[in-house]
Amino acid sequence: MRVLASAPAKVILFGEHSVVYGKPAIAAAIDLRTYVRAGFNENGAIKIEARDIKVPGLTVSFSENEIYFESDYGKAAEVLSYVRQAIELVREEADKRKGVTVSITSQIPVGAGLGSSAAVAIATIGAVSRLFGLELTREEIGKLGHKVELLVQGASSGIDPTVSALGGFIHYENRKFERLPFMELPIVVGYTGSSGSTKELVAMVRRTYEEMPEVVEPLLVAMGRIVEKARGLLLSEVEERARFEELGRLMNINHGLLDALGVSTKKLSELVYAARTAGAVGAKITGAGGGGCMYALAPENQSEVATAIKIAGGVPMITKISREGLRIEEVKP
Ligand code: PMV
Repeated sequence: MRVLASAPAKVILFGEHSVVYGKPAIAAAIDLRTYVRAGFNENGAIKIEARDIKVPGLTVSFSENEIYFESDYGKAAEVLSYVRQAIELVREEADKRKGVTVSITSQIPVGAGLGSSAAVAIATIGAVSRLFGLELTREEIGKLGHKVELLVQGASSGIDPTVSALGGFIHYENRKFERLPFMELPIVVGYTGSSGSTKELVAMVRRTYEEMPEVVEPLLVAMGRIVEKARGLLLSEVEERARFEELGRLMNINHGLLDALGVSTKKLSELVYAARTAGAVGAKITGAGGGGCMYALAPENQSEVATAIKIAGGVPMITKISREGLRIEEVKP
């Protein structure tokens, strides 16, 4: 028997960094996927084939709707510990003696803050649990994905695996996840080509917070309020155009506050301004900053915005919110 499963990448729409201080955040799955094919093998071992884990920043070519990345073994190796841990967790629930071979292909750049590790963990758990005949819900798979992150990296909010397993929009606050109604959001993600260290950026914000809490606290409060306003918009019946405009304004304010916290870079801000100039209704950093990615909301002009991001030196990815999280693509007897 062979099973093919896929799981999506994520963007944090609003609330990165302030979420560390107990404020809410909203993240969403996007239409870039990692595919994992799983089958049993005869020798009882765990075998991982990952010839095609995409890593941008080395060689990238871009055409209208497709992006090709050349792969780099060093970064791909980091991903493998998530895959291994995911297989081991599922085997513990099912049958430890059975050998499993998985092969991975991915459209998600590694180390860009788009949740590539969580996506590979979720797709692996999805494929391998189905292979063993375990009937797990997406919620259960999301929780197992969180466990994989805790085992591999020591700490994790669980946002990435939850979004990747469930898909759509997820509102997060104090360890509680709420699925928001789905809607189309035409976005363009811009990758700077370098990655910031989430751990170092979180520590840097912490230092500023401790040195001048009276200045930083109001910024964090404002960021939390932006999230609540965005949640209200996603839940409301507002006409689409007005909703995009309002979300765009909130994105711009959120970007300014992140910049104020010191997590933007010249390159990130250049991509943000290039996107706005090309007609995006809003643009901001997504994730920890210090490199990594920004995203722009571009309801009418995704390709112009993508071109502007490319001219400004970034790698654009035209995408949209993925309604679906984990997907079982194919089961062959
Ligand atoms: O680097 P990313 O996309 O995983 O985003 C990190 C988000 C932070 O709020 C900065 C950190 C966190 O743990 O929530």
